[in-house]
Amino acid sequence: MTDKSNFSIAVIPGDGTGPEVVREALKALEAAGVREHLRLDFHHYDLGGERYLKTGEILPEGVIAELGKMDAILLGAIGHPDVKPGILEKGLLLELRFRLDMYINLRPVVLFPGVETPLKNKGPEDIDFVVVRENTEGLYTGGGGFLRKGTPQEVAIQESINTRYGVERCLRYAFDFCRKRKKRMKLTLCGKTNVLTYASDLWERVFRLLQEEYPEVRTDYANVDAVCMWMIKNPEWFDVIVTDNLFGDIITDIGAIIQGGLGIAAGGNINPQGVSMFEPIGGSAPKYTGKNVINPLAAIMAASMMLEHLGASAAAKRIENAVKKAVLRDIKNLAAGNMGMGTVEAGDLIADYIARD
Ligand code: IPM
Ligand code: MN
Repeated sequence: MTDKSNFSIAVIPGDGTGPEVVREALKALEAAGVREHLRLDFHHYDLGGERYLKTGEILPEGVIAELGKMDAILLGAIGHPDVKPGILEKGLLLELRFRLDMYINLRPVVLFPGVETPLKNKGPEDIDFVVVRENTEGLYTGGGGFLRKGTPQEVAIQESINTRYGVERCLRYAFDFCRKRKKRMKLTLCGKTNVLTYASDLWERVFRLLQEEYPEVRTDYANVDAVCMWMIKNPEWFDVIVTDNLFGDIITDIGAIIQGGLGIAAGGNINPQGVSMFEPIGGSAPKYTGKNVINPLAAIMAASMMLEHLGASAAAKRIENAVKKAVLRDIKNLAAGNMGMGTVEAGDLIADYIARD
């Protein structure tokens, strides 16, 4: 058993630039751990494209069992240029999400002071919301198949699976999260009720039912296409957005870019009753691999989210404050190769701020 200052963390650096950014995130964790007297035991796992190419293994059963016993998982990136798209994403990333029942993908969209957003006339006071994305169902389950494959009459069916159980636990998490966040106390359901008259209908019905249990939370509904528009035109309208797996995937890329890009966007795959996994939202970025140019801030923010999730809020804040300080003073451009310093130097800077402040 662990107490509140002793944590076993699985580390999956993964592919491409994953190992480079994870290395810097670990420096930040070490530094914050020292300041807050945490004991962090890191267990490294060499999952990813290289291992797959060498051994054919993607995610052995024994590893899933071990990961399930950790306090949390820190992930770098998945995706290898020599492996056909889909194999690692489905076999590793989605498999981890599904098998460890990380049914929430929590993606904060926060613009820190000093960071440039592509949105005209919008600042940190306008861009501060959180997307709660369902993470185990919808179009991601692999339901469906081909009929008459390879013929001119071919049919491809990709089914969106929405269970009452899955929808309800996601919505409930979002209501609870919105209430705890205490920001604007507004929860927006993002769906497509005008077309998806089964799936979105279920989401909306359960949303309306739960609403009665959370009278202090104001609720709102918007179709996903409109959400895309408003995230750009009026991001200040949002506080917490809850949505299904694919809509959440899409709108959080908009979220990432308006908060300064993939260099800083982090997320958590949450199993409130089990082990959760934290990751930078960006991919493995093969073209930047090994060049010391990738921005480690997203991985470092993922580490901060992980500590917050573990209840080590003070340590989490130390990392976040160091990142805020760095983007205000030192790292003006968050894009890979444009930071004005290398990956290692950026990580050293953060660790240094954590150690000194
Ligand atoms: C994400 C990614 C993944 C997803 C891919 C890599 C399978 O885009 O985490 O947003 O679609 O969920
Ligand atoms: Mn995505």
